[in-house]
Amino acid sequence: MDNRTAFITGAGGFIGSEVAKTLARSGIKVAVCDIDDEKIKATVDSITAEGGWAKGYLSDVSNSADIEGAMNKAAEDMGGLDIMVHVAGGSSRVAGPGNWKLLVDQEDFVIEKVIAVNLFGAIYASRAAARIMIKQGRGGKIINFGSTVGVNGLRCSTEYAASKGGVMSFTKALAKELGEHKINVNCVAPGVVCRHADDETDWTRQYSYGTNFLGEKCVPEDVANLVEFLASPKSNFITGQTYIIDGGRSLAMKGTQE
Ligand SMILES: NC(=O)c1ccc[n+]([C@@H]2O[C@H](COP(=O)([O-])OP(=O)(O)OC[C@H]3O[C@@H](n4cnc5c(N)ncnc54)[C@H](O)[C@@H]3O)[C@@H](O)[C@H]2O)c1
Repeated sequence: MDNRTAFITGAGGFIGSEVAKTLARSGIKVAVCDIDDEKIKATVDSITAEGGWAKGYLSDVSNSADIEGAMNKAAEDMGGLDIMVHVAGGSSRVAGPGNWKLLVDQEDFVIEKVIAVNLFGAIYASRAAARIMIKQGRGGKIINFGSTVGVNGLRCSTEYAASKGGVMSFTKALAKELGEHKINVNCVAPGVVCRHADDETDWTRQYSYGTNFLGEKCVPEDVANLVEFLASPKSNFITGQTYIIDGGRSLAMKGTQE
């Protein structure tokens, strides 16, 4: 039985819930954090139904006091904190539907919300985790979520690209600060993740399995497996890195698949 503990933001979402379930299956106690109560319940219920340990924490990652309070409470409940994964976030949809716009048309509240959840969220959640982990003195793993959009950019997603690019730079800087405490800081940058193996639409074909170099869909399990590795002792010598997981799609140049 694994006696490690993990706090996962956005653990009600489709990637975050898979990350939570994957870690819980290896015996890790999981704090399921999200801004949506119903989604928290669904993830907690699914983990406990499989015999795992999970508890829900309703919190907004873009509010530093709120996320720090939730993480401190979770660490107290679980008997410590070994792993923090900040999955919460997304493109302009985090500010509501219909906000997919060119920068010249984009509104302040969308720009602010996207950067607040993705980038401020990563900074606040990582700081809260680092404070707990340093005090514990037994090292730890901090994993944030980037995106291939943060690497290459995307039209109608300038604010999202900026936020995820920021998360990747932040990862490098924080790794330099926390190395002496044996805390690894890494980032996972997916391309398009399909909801499940049967997710076959024009959209997923165009942006996923039809245009990556493996010709396969990336599903939440693929991303969760990478997080599991980065959360495990097997990655103890890796820090400050961003792992792109996109079937090689971001290697292509515009207008060509070659
Ligand atoms: N889905 C993809 O194809 C893809 C690709 C690249 C990167 N990503 C990144 O992966 C992560 C997860 O994305 P997803 O597709 O699972 O999205 P999702 O919408 O299914 O999950 C995101 C979760 O974050 C929660 N959340 C939103 N704002 C929050 C806040 N302020 N505080 C706490 N929780 C909040 C939501 O309630 C939701 O449960 C995001 O960071 C996203 O940018 C996703």
